This record gives sequence, C-alpha cells and structure tokens, in this order.
Amino acid sequence: MSRTAAPGGRAASAPLLGHEIEPTLFELSVAGRSSYQLRTTDVPATPLSDLVPIEHLNDEVVKLAEVSERDLVGHFTRLAHRQFAVDLGAYPLGSCTMKYNPKFCDAVAGDPGLNSVHPAAPAHLCQGWLELLVTLEATLCTITGMKAATLQPAAGAAGELTGLLLMRAYHTANGDPRRRVLIPDSAHGTNPASVTLGGYEVTTIPSTDRGLVDIEKLKAELDTDVAGIMLTNPNTVGLFEEQIVEIAQAVHEVGGLLYYDGANLNAILGVVRPGDMGFDIVHMNLHKTFATPHGGGGPGAGPVAVSARLADYLPGPKAVRLHDGSFDWSTPPRSIGRVHGWHGNALVLARALAYIQVHGSDGLRRVAQHAVLNANWLRVRLRATLPAAYDTTCMHECVLSASALKADYGVRGLDVAKALLEEGFHSPTVYFPLIVDEALMFEPTETESPQTLEALAQALERIAALAVSDPERLHRAPQTTPVSRVDEARAARQLVSTEDAAGR
Ligand SMILES: Cc1ncc(COP(=O)(O)O)c(C=O)c1O
Repeated sequence: MSRTAAPGGRAASAPLLGHEIEPTLFELSVAGRSSYQLRTTDVPATPLSDLVPIEHLNDEVVKLAEVSERDLVGHFTRLAHRQFAVDLGAYPLGSCTMKYNPKFCDAVAGDPGLNSVHPAAPAHLCQGWLELLVTLEATLCTITGMKAATLQPAAGAAGELTGLLLMRAYHTANGDPRRRVLIPDSAHGTNPASVTLGGYEVTTIPSTDRGLVDIEKLKAELDTDVAGIMLTNPNTVGLFEEQIVEIAQAVHEVGGLLYYDGANLNAILGVVRPGDMGFDIVHMNLHKTFATPHGGGGPGAGPVAVSARLADYLPGPKAVRLHDGSFDWSTPPRSIGRVHGWHGNALVLARALAYIQVHGSDGLRRVAQHAVLNANWLRVRLRATLPAAYDTTCMHECVLSASALKADYGVRGLDVAKALLEEGFHSPTVYFPLIVDEALMFEPTETESPQTLEALAQALERIAALAVSDPERLHRAPQTTPVSRVDEARAARQLVSTEDAAGR
C-alpha cells in the first residue's frame, strides 16, 4: 500500500488521541474560576426583579461549572480532536450530504456587518440584510422553479411542518379540509412525523422491486380525501422517480398538492427543477446543499418555496423590496403566521447565498453532476464487495447491502460501518431506508476526489476480507478509536447525567 497519499484521511494520520474519558465541565469545575468578564458600561444598573416578572425568577441559584478560559478551550479542543469531522476526511453519510464546506462561507458568516445586527433592528437600519434575504428568496425560487419562499424554518423537518401547514391552510381556505397525505415506504422518518404533526393521517405507498413508487398502488389510494403527497426525488434509495410527471398529474387531478422533500437537492441542482416536475411546495435543506457544517445537530435552514397559488399563505414577516427600491418587512395576506422566533437561522442563509453566488448556475450544475458521478463510480467499483440494493444508475447516493456478508459470515452492516472508522472514514448511514436489508447508504458528495473514493473502496475491500478471515474482529470494531464499540441502545436508555465531580 502506498505510504504517500492519504486521501480521505487515514485513521493513522488523524489526530485521534488517547483513550481516557474526557471529564465533563462540572468535573473540571473549581469554585471561583471563570472564563468571562462582563464589560462595565455607563448604562445604569436595574434590579432584575424590575425587568422580569417575579413569578419567572428562579428562587435557587443555578449551579454552573466554574472553569477558566484556558481549561474551557482545552476541554473542547480535546473533544474536537477525538471526533471525526468533515474537515478531517470523507464523510459519506447518506441522506445527510456531509460535503466539505468551503472556508469562504465561514468568512461571510464571520462578517461583523452581518453577525452583529440584532434581529429586532428596524428595517431602515439593516437594509443590507433585507436585500440579502430578498435576493436569496428569488435565487431559491429560480433554482426550484417556484414563485415565492419563506426563509424562516430552522431545519428540514421544520420546513416539512411548515409545508404541511401551508397545505392545510390552502385546502381549508377552499372549504375542503381533507384528511390524508400519501408517503412512499422509502421516505425519511421526518416525513410521516411532519404529516402527523400537521394534523393529517399517513397513507403509505409501497415501492416496486425497482425501488420506485408503485404508481398503480398510488393511483388506487387517490381520492378527494387526499390533501397531497410527500416525495423526495431522487428518492431515499438514491433513484430518480421516472414517473414523476404522471404522479403529479394523478395527484393534481383529485385536487391534491405535491410536496417535495428537497433534502436531496444536491443531485438535481441546475439540472431539473421541482416546479417543472409539478411540485407545489418544496423545502430545501440549505445546510446540506449549500455549505453549512451541520454534524452534531445544527444549525440548519429549511426554507420552503411554493407555487403561485400558495404564496399568500407563507409565514411572515418576510423581507420585501418596495417600489422605491428600499426594503421592508411584510406579512403575506393569508399568512399561517410565524414558524421562527425571528427571521430564521440568518447566518446559514448568508452562507447559502455566498455559496450559490460564487458557484453561479454552471458551477451548481457541476456540483450536481459530480455528486451523481461519484456515487455511481462507487456503486460500480464496489459491485463485487457490497452490491447495490438496486443495481441501476443512481443519483447522488448509492444504497449498498451487506445482506450477503450477514448470510455467509454473520457480519452485519453495522459491523462494516464501525470498521470503516478505523480506516479513517466516517461511516455511511446504516439500516436506512428501511426497505433495504442491511442497508449501507453512501453519499460521497461532489467534494471527494477520485483518489479518496478509491481509498474508500479499498478500505471496504479490506473489511470484506476480514469478514471472511476474522468476523469476530469486525463485531468488536472499532477498537483503535478513542471510543470503541458502544452499546448505543443502552446509552440512550440509561442516561447518566453528571453535574459535579462527585457525579451527583
Ligand atoms: C430525505 C430527508 N428529509 C428530511 C430530512 C430532515 O432534515 P433536518 O435534519 O434538517 O431536519 C433529512 C435529514 O437528513 C433527509 O435526509
């Protein structure tokens, strides 16, 4: 094996140090230490009880960890060095689009002109911010083929709920509330959850043995009680729903709306638009497609774009351009109200616009083309090692299966995914979509080079060889990482919260 190139990051070259458990901040706490200093100002001090109603004030002093800045930074830096990260190596976590995020987006988000503005600042004092939001809304509408958008939802799932509330508002205004929303059985878990939160019932549509929506079964469910359908295209097995136009026609014929889960937008940027496929509502995961690091829970942005007939229902207030060219806030006439305390995760929005403008339309199309090329390269390269669940041209992700390894050697998809960490790659998504046995969902993204993909394929070949020679070793993997194999279910069920050094 070559000692020179370590594309994608080999574990041995990564700064994953030590095996000792990092103490919590409470365990590091020493009374009297602090890592902050409050500025003195000439603003007269006001007792807290004059500002906050007494019933909202806490009687007890809340116990916080007392640590110096030096200890605080050391704590988080040690933790960071023990983590896998997008900046460290390839992170092919399917459905999550963990692409490398270019640093110019950080520079934009770090601009004090953007990040030191209070969201309550009056419109005349933040015209630049409003122009940014108006430009982003128009740009997202161009990308998706829609009429208008809200930038408020703070994540994909929040966008989904917003979209369903828009669907409900539209049908209710037409005096036709309806009860059911159709979802394919391959859908992301947030889809049925959002349908339920939006007050609808889920009707599941089975997939065919080619991994696509079974259009005959779909048509059999269509009636005037169907409020709409939620689809992601490409779907969650990474395949393009070829019959999307026919699906759109059939749903529209019974008066239903089409919701596009745009978490997979990376595959279609600049190539095809949900609006042209017939969709009425689209949410976009800006944090995936347009470069915001989002591992570990945030921050995100899930704007929702809609066709003309839904524009009046969008959440408000929205930034708008006035006739004289200035900007202001305005709420659409039949708005469903706010879905965010302020205007959304503003710096994620700023990053997205920077990313889109730097790439331009040709650049965005290349992003999608390379994402699709990389996934197909990996699918074909690994045919003999981990066959694809549906061995046909895929879009931006390929769903492979460890079914044969399980049957022959008792090695499961989870074992393969864990062993990959020891090879210096993040694991793929496992056991999703649910319709694929021993699913391993790889999304290499456009940011990984051919050398990195080859290194990833070779790592998976070494793991498959170990399945034959030493399957036990794989059941215990990873062993060389700071945290070895954990019982994930137990960690979730037996939460041990540590508040101080004594573990109380
Ligand atoms: C297909 C799909 N839909 C929706 C979501 C939800 O997005 P978020 O995690 O931003 O709430 C995801 C997230 O991974 C997804 O992959």
